[in-house]
Amino acid sequence: MAKVSLVYISLSGNTASFIKRLTVFLQERHEGLEVEQINIKDLVKEGQDFFVMDNPFVAFLPTYLEGGNGVDSGDVEILTNDLARFIDFENNYKKCFGIVGSGNRNFNNQYCLTAKQYAQRFDFPLLDTFELRGLQNDIERIGCKIEDLYHI
Ligand SMILES: Cc1cc2nc3c(=O)[nH]c(=O)nc-3n(C[C@H](O)[C@H](O)[C@H](O)COP(=O)(O)O)c2cc1C
Repeated sequence: MAKVSLVYISLSGNTASFIKRLTVFLQERHEGLEVEQINIKDLVKEGQDFFVMDNPFVAFLPTYLEGGNGVDSGDVEILTNDLARFIDFENNYKKCFGIVGSGNRNFNNQYCLTAKQYAQRFDFPLLDTFELRGLQNDIERIGCKIEDLYHI
């Protein structure tokens, strides 16, 4: 059976929670499915080298922007840049099915803006978005998209 790889970064735990619940959702529907979770923040914290992805993956990116309004300013990405470095490392982006953005709707035009920018920069699709930790319907909708991508 295919292995699913989820590459993400999470600073305050919301995305990590989403990944955990998404993994449970997928494994409940596919007995024995291997779900690889790669937390870029941990890699960097532990001083581990980046590596080439052998398996196709889906990226998950919360939004952290400094100031601005998302229209004519406010695109300064803070804290999450290591995910872009990993995606860029040795052409890893070629193995990326696409990106799922997350954020907080209070940020209006900046909502999930960084994931949209990564999609343009690396030329892969913005697969979906969810707010904060995500609701069960977000898990199910995104989980079903992942099933389609991996043909499982
Ligand atoms: C300093 C800061 C800046 C943020 N900027 C944005 C933003 O520009 N757009 C947005 O949609 N969400 C923004 N957020 C909300 C986070 O993306 C949201 O809380 C997300 O769920 C955090 O994910 P994490 O807990 O996995 O790190 C910001 C949060 C913080 C603390």
